[in-house]
Amino acid sequence: MRRAARGLLNHAEMQVTNTKSGRKTILPHNQQKVLQRQLSTQEVIERDDKYGGRHFKTLPVVLVRGEGVHCWDIEGKKYVDLLGGFATMSQGHSHPRLVQVMRDQVGKLQHTSRAFYTEPHGELGEYLCKLTGYDRFLPMNTGVEAGDTALKIARRWGYKSKNIPDNEAVVVFAEGNYWGRSLAALSSSTDPNCYKHFGPYMPKFENVPYNDLSALEDKLKKQPNICAFMCEPIQGEAGVNIPSDGYLKGVRELCTKYNVLWIADEVQTGLGRTGKRFAVDYESVKPDMLVLGKALSGGMYPVSGVLGSNEIILTLETGIHGSTFGGSPLGQRVALEAMKVLEEEKLADNAAKMGQIVREELQHVPKDIALEFRGKGLLAGLKLNPDFANGWDICAKLIQQGLLTRPAHNYIIRISPPLVINEQQIREAMGIIKKTLLGHKKS
Ligand SMILES: Cc1ncc(COP(=O)(O)O)c(C=O)c1O
Repeated sequence: MRRAARGLLNHAEMQVTNTKSGRKTILPHNQQKVLQRQLSTQEVIERDDKYGGRHFKTLPVVLVRGEGVHCWDIEGKKYVDLLGGFATMSQGHSHPRLVQVMRDQVGKLQHTSRAFYTEPHGELGEYLCKLTGYDRFLPMNTGVEAGDTALKIARRWGYKSKNIPDNEAVVVFAEGNYWGRSLAALSSSTDPNCYKHFGPYMPKFENVPYNDLSALEDKLKKQPNICAFMCEPIQGEAGVNIPSDGYLKGVRELCTKYNVLWIADEVQTGLGRTGKRFAVDYESVKPDMLVLGKALSGGMYPVSGVLGSNEIILTLETGIHGSTFGGSPLGQRVALEAMKVLEEEKLADNAAKMGQIVREELQHVPKDIALEFRGKGLLAGLKLNPDFANGWDICAKLIQQGLLTRPAHNYIIRISPPLVINEQQIREAMGIIKKTLLGHKKS
């Protein structure tokens, strides 16, 4: 009991209280099921369906615990997590250092707002700036908020530094982009699933084809009021679209040439996911703003933010931007530890090595099963042949075989596991995918 009060239970233990006597006991995980399992999988699903929104298509598995690359469902079944919370759980589930830091900070100071100074805010900023060479880090909470903040900065920079007439600033986005579900984000989207029937849309948001430098240059040449071009260095949600070599360098050159800010959305591709610290590192280029989220806090607390120069970040003067939780001590403290884990455990290098194995294993799947493999590091997708199967059916079968993932755009099987996955685990997982695909062919 004393260990529980001090927050020192390990992941396989829980504290239970006898409702009659009030006595507290620590139970190992294998005995918890009996007490915990008041609802079946079906009952949990039915309750969700009854009381929650139905805007998300959720696969029928109820997870109760995670450790490293594994998760367990309510029935005690173990899975390898190949989705990683949409490329968020890079440090693995329940990383002991993150769990410890959360516990320590929760017991000390949780939330203050930016009305006051706290230590973790500057500590995280200093760490990120020294690591990346940017001058400043402006923290937010979710990816979409960080993207929105970058766009606010860009518009304001356009008016103050580029002398764009008021309310005329244009932002250009790549077709196929995904940066969240807010009204601004869907206004830039070219996916009807994202934008349809949510109008009217944000004015002066325009699109150019992704991976097309001449289309971008055409747009920049014709439009003097463009303040920013925003794109993902690799489009994740669009199905892992990897641009041609030289695209990122070309974007950098064009944005410099036409005095336009380049905002790189590395919410998904950043922090080791693609095998380097940032996907832009593959072409050794530095965007004007780098947008981060997801793995920044290892899934412990939503932390996102924007990295940029003094000139750019200070475009937002005192009093004109804010967020209740952005920069909170709890979030920044865990993000700092999550960053240190990524760096000290060299998880980008591991992503590069394990990604190579994923490629070796999946790139030769016959074309009647999968049309294409796309991947960089541990951000990968296997595009099924629509004549062969639907991604949902395959993911349901993979779940039965102990692998967790879900499709993008119906036919692309996502592979974005925690970056701590090892060779044996990734080879086994790829073996199960291949066997499941071949088995589906026969059935
Ligand atoms: C590239 C990219 N940007 C932004 C977002 C939005 O992040 P959030 O869902 O935390 O708002 C996502 C989410 O998947 C993303 O992939």
